[in-house]
Amino acid sequence: MARPWSRITGTGAALPGRAVSNDELARQLAARGIETSDEWIVARTGIRQRYIADASLSTTALGAQAARAALQAAGLEPAALDLIVLATSTPDQIFPSTACLVQADLGAAGAAAFDVQAVCSGFVYGLAVADAMIRTGVYRRALVVGAEIFSRILDWNDRTTCVLFGDGAGAVVLEASEQPGILAARLHADGTQARILCTAGRLAQGAVHGDPFLRMDGQAVFRLAVNVLDASAREVLADAELGVEAVDWLVPHQANVRILSATARRLGLAESKVIVTVGQHGNTSAASVPLALDLAVRDGRVRAGQHVLLQGVGGGFTWGSVLLRF
Ligand code: ACO
Repeated sequence: MARPWSRITGTGAALPGRAVSNDELARQLAARGIETSDEWIVARTGIRQRYIADASLSTTALGAQAARAALQAAGLEPAALDLIVLATSTPDQIFPSTACLVQADLGAAGAAAFDVQAVCSGFVYGLAVADAMIRTGVYRRALVVGAEIFSRILDWNDRTTCVLFGDGAGAVVLEASEQPGILAARLHADGTQARILCTAGRLAQGAVHGDPFLRMDGQAVFRLAVNVLDASAREVLADAELGVEAVDWLVPHQANVRILSATARRLGLAESKVIVTVGQHGNTSAASVPLALDLAVRDGRVRAGQHVLLQGVGGGFTWGSVLLRF
């Protein structure tokens, strides 16, 4: 039997209750004696607002909400799934995995379920892993979720990081198919760069040891991100024997509009082909790529048969690309 391809058959998204504008955030930070402004945030990042979860919301609940939307779009019942891969750096518990908790919430008992931890590259990592598992012929219907509540690991006294991130979840259903879907997937990491973006604290003997907050060297991240995204895009295009002109849509990790513009410029891709949601969502880490994809599918930009390039980059340092025919 020929090896099956894997194809995305449904997308979904979930955002917590309320958008917090830059002006509102600036007022909240001013009350703590921290100065920032809508002008600074928009000019440096393109972010205009972000969604922040309240204390009662879990990463599991957000992930399950996005998963249900993706399953509905695919016309599948949760019980039909045989694989759940969930990407998060903000799990609800140390264990079990958030994938197992989402599986229970959905009622998909029996499906294999595990988390991948690749920070902002997590969804692209999860998609590549699920694709490889489907292509073995053993798994046929997978759910890949990116779900994050980053607001809980931000230091709200550090204006260089707390204005950048938001909460959310996105998901896709990936099914075995005789028609090509994912054409090429490549993942990379460089652990020697771990310190430029990290949350280094750990739990031991009943207490947090070390720093429990996200820390970042913004300029180092910027430089590395632009370099690796360009090389990674060219790698999957070469694997699929396609040129840049074949790309209908670039759906990159949404960290910063300046990174997105620089990547498009280096690739020679028109900016009109880049899906940009960072203004609405902020940086939602592993959720950003599936959130952006779902938005562009639902508003009719991404259509069946088009070539879509998904790209992740983030802590680790990790990066990767998935090129697919939608
Ligand atoms: N509001 C107002 N002023 C600020 C703020 C803020 N929120 N944050 C920093 N500043 C000030 C700094 O204190 C500094 O002031 P100074 O010149 O008086 O010392 C000034 O603004 C410039 O600071 P820089 O850190 O040099 O600002 P930069 O131009 O590098 O922009 C940024 C910072 C936006 C983080 C940029 O480095 C960047 O885009 N980095 C990419 C990293 C990124 O997007 N990370 C997201 C997560 S990583 C990922 O997802 C892959």
